This record gives sequence, structure tokens and C-alpha cells, in this order.
Amino acid sequence: MSGFSTRNKYFDELFATEGLLWMGQNTNHIPAHPAVRAAMLASVEAAEFNAYAPPLGFEALRQAIVDDLGVSGVEAVVTEGGVNALATICRARCRPGTTLVTTDPTWKWPCLFARQQGAEVIEIPIYDPATDYKLTPEALAAAVDERTAIVYIVDPNNPLGICYGRAEIEAFSAIARRHGALLVHDCTYRDFADGHHPALFASTENTIVSMSFSKWLGLAGIRVGAFVAAPELAAEIASWSTGVLGGSVIAQRAAQAGLSVKPAWMADVRRINRANQQHIKAASEAEGFVLPVYPSHGNFLVIETVGAGIRPEALVAAAKRQGIMIRQGTYHTERFGDRFIKVSTSVPAEWAEVFCDKLPALVEEARRLNDVEAQF
Ligand SMILES: Cc1ncc(COP(=O)(O)O)c(C=O)c1O
Repeated sequence: MSGFSTRNKYFDELFATEGLLWMGQNTNHIPAHPAVRAAMLASVEAAEFNAYAPPLGFEALRQAIVDDLGVSGVEAVVTEGGVNALATICRARCRPGTTLVTTDPTWKWPCLFARQQGAEVIEIPIYDPATDYKLTPEALAAAVDERTAIVYIVDPNNPLGICYGRAEIEAFSAIARRHGALLVHDCTYRDFADGHHPALFASTENTIVSMSFSKWLGLAGIRVGAFVAAPELAAEIASWSTGVLGGSVIAQRAAQAGLSVKPAWMADVRRINRANQQHIKAASEAEGFVLPVYPSHGNFLVIETVGAGIRPEALVAAAKRQGIMIRQGTYHTERFGDRFIKVSTSVPAEWAEVFCDKLPALVEEARRLNDVEAQF
């Protein structure tokens, strides 16, 4: 079987597992807000899915995204998930002879999109307690030059859970602008963070924010995200979009309803997320595991297993047998991935409890597992 097909079957099998606890992809499984559910159902009932949405997204949603970000003089373009915003940005700017500069770990798919365009990817290692697991302006300045098309910063970083402050974002912005590079600030997890500072506050010049409705609102399966930039830049990037017939109408209705209830919804989600993180931290430390970043500014935790003699892949395989999906570090980073697993925490409290209760047995099983299937 080709690797392509193996990967698909892996996820198909997960989806077919009844009652699977999805704790590996930072998706949100807290029961949807009634207003969001109602918006989706009303859209289905009205058969809105028969028609194409406007190519850049419904105007009301575009405006609501900009209002939510709180930056003036910018426009939002709705995409089929944040991933398609990032793919379009890479298509627009990456070419042979250019570079995309990012961190290691980073979110890996934009690196693939950049390479597909012939660009070179430069990953700056940040898995280092000496820099608080963060990119420093000095390290970024050393990697950026006149070849740099894109500086891609995931903030909060998936998987590490660190978040940059205003001074750091301003320094990254100045470095990118000095070299004429586009700063792409991937703000997918910003709503879980304390004190997040979107790069568009530092400058709207050569700066794009990408975002997602998959994580904070729980809409991963219906694909809606966006990018936000100054009008001229937004128009340039949008002209490279393959989503010329618009995104999902149902998803956009849900996204707009979500924005209208966001403060109350996120207060709940953040409370549940933090409590789950506390429980999982305690259960993990009881097994001799280490959490390099705590608390995480995301809806996930990096948990180092290597010091306790547990191979991440073995623990992921043991959890899968028990109907729990968690993620091996090598999904995120070849260089550091053999150290850790990642566990997502925007899930019902009962899911986190099941994980914590089962963890000692999973660890025992992982010690005995040698050969494990390919993981993705
Ligand atoms: C950092 C980061 N950016 C973007 C995405 C894509 O999100 P979406 O589901 O909106 O395509 C993810 C999903 O895991 C992510 O972790």
C-alpha cells in the first residue's frame, strides 16, 4: 500500500472507532454552543448548501473577523480552514531561490507548501530551556536575509504552547520588514493564550495573520479559517486562491454565530482546558514524565516521555488500542520528536479523566511494545 493510502486508512480507522477520545489534533470536543448548532441547522434547513458562498466569504463574517481581531485598516478573507490560508500565502510568495524561515518545532504543512513552490525552508531550533523554548529576535535576525519570502511564526506554538509578548512580536516584525519579507503570524491558538499580541498591531505592512475556527470553536470537520491583512496585500494573496467558488456556507454561518457568543463560550472553554491541563500534568508527572512548558498557552501539552524510558510511538500505539488518540512528537519535528507526546486538552473533563486513569496501564503496555504501525 502506498504511504499516501496508509495515512488515509490510519485516520479512517480512527474516525470509525466508536467513542474515540480525540486528544491528538488540538480539535475541540466540548459540546457546541447552542447558537452555533442552531446556525448550522438553520442553514441546512434553508438548503443554503445548494448555493456557492461569495468567494472571499460572507461580508458580515469578514467584518466580524476583523472586529474580533481589533485591528483597523485591514480585511479578512475566509478560507477553507487556516491550512488553505497558509497554502495560498505560500503559493503567492514562495519561489525557487527564496526561503521560508520558521521555528523547529513549527506547524509542518506550510513548510511542505513552500517546498512545493521550490523555496528552501529554514527551521530555527527552539526546543531549548535556555531560551524558554522560544524564538529569539537574534536567532531570527541571523536566519533572515534578502532571499526570505516568508517568516512563519506559529504563536502560541503548536506543540510547545509558548506565546510571544508584544516586544518579541515587534522585534520579529521589524526584522521581517527590514528585509522585505512577509511576516505570517499563525494565530490559530490565540484564544487559548494569556496576553496574545497579533503582529498586525505592530505593523500592517507586509504582515498577515492567519486564523482558524477549528480549535477555539470546534469546527475542524467543516473547514473554515481566514487570513487578515491590509487591503492591497489581502487582494494580492486572494488572487492566488484555489477557493474561487467560496468556502462552506454552513461553516461560515457557524463561524459567525460563534463570534457572536465568543466571550461567554471561550470563558467556559478556557476554564475546562486549564483544569484538564492540571489533571494531565499531575498524572504525567506521577509516571516520571516531564512537561517542559507549563501552563501551555494552547489547548495541548507537550509531555516528555523519553526520560522515563518510554518511546512516544509506543505510548501512542498503546493509547490507540484503548480508544484514545494522542500524538507522537515526530509528527511535529524530526529533530526533537523522539522526546515527547502531545496531548490535546480542549475536551470534556471526563475524557481527560479517562486518559489520566488509564495512563499507568498505557505506560506499562508501552514498555512492552516494540514494533508499532506507522503513525501520522
Ligand atoms: C498551527 C496551526 N495552524 C493551522 C492549522 C490549521 O487549522 P485549520 O483546521 O483551520 O485548517 C493547525 C491545525 O492543526 C495548526 O496547528
